[in-house]
Amino acid sequence: MNIVLMGCPGAGKGTQSVKLQQEFNLHHISTGDVLRAEIASGSVLGKQIAAIIDKGNLVPDEMIISMLENIIKSTTKGIVFDGFPRTVKQAEALDAMMRRLDRSITQVVMIDLPEKEVVTRICSRRQCKQCGEILHVDLSVPLSKCPACGGELYARPDDTPERARHRLDVYHQDTLPVKKYYQTGGKYVEVNGNQTPEKVFEDIQKSLK
Ligand code: AP5
Ligand code: MG
Repeated sequence: MNIVLMGCPGAGKGTQSVKLQQEFNLHHISTGDVLRAEIASGSVLGKQIAAIIDKGNLVPDEMIISMLENIIKSTTKGIVFDGFPRTVKQAEALDAMMRRLDRSITQVVMIDLPEKEVVTRICSRRQCKQCGEILHVDLSVPLSKCPACGGELYARPDDTPERARHRLDVYHQDTLPVKKYYQTGGKYVEVNGNQTPEKVFEDIQKSLK
């Protein structure tokens, strides 16, 4: 099973990918996490990437496509793609890569979230540096440690109201055409992302063929 999870910034792609990974023993590929790991390594490439993603823009297609092929090759497990493809060019490259590896995309799941929810969700997100847990925090209550492991929590540099709005504009311009690309293939489904994470997951499971 190879699943593409689509959705606007804050739709819940990361949250649901972790659930899918655990339930179906999948390999979770989050291109956002791959890019943030490169930034954390302190490399020259990482510095170039930070300058792009901290502003909420997309990194060039060629860069992300070349990073992806080796990651896909490194696993024989089913894959959940989170945040990739984000342009039609990336979708075409993914199809070509999967064909070369004698694999294919089984299903494309769009997590649908009303735009008015996006900025609140993004700005209330904290992630644990230690265990990677994604949290939705109440900003009126100070919380600095992860309730799961006690690790330090952080907010992503691109998680400000201004950048969130810009990421949404980029999503409209570059990523929504990917929805049309997949809608014609018979593998595309939509689930309502504006319900509890557990209910969203239940709907995703029901949608899997
Ligand atoms: P990426 O990291 O993929 O960011 P994104 O697509 O903007 O999505 P997010 O990670 O912000 O949201 P999410 O849908 O994962 O939601 P989450 O589960 O965390 O990409 C970051 C940047 O990297 C891009 O802007 C770009 O620059 C670059 N990049 C990445 N991939 C690229 C590519 N392929 N090509 C080019 N550039 C690329 O949830 C959000 C919050 O909501 C959390 O607080 C969570 O706890 C909460 N939440 C989740 N579900 C629910 C729910 N059902 N109810 C209530 N709260 C919920
Ligand atoms: Mg994410």
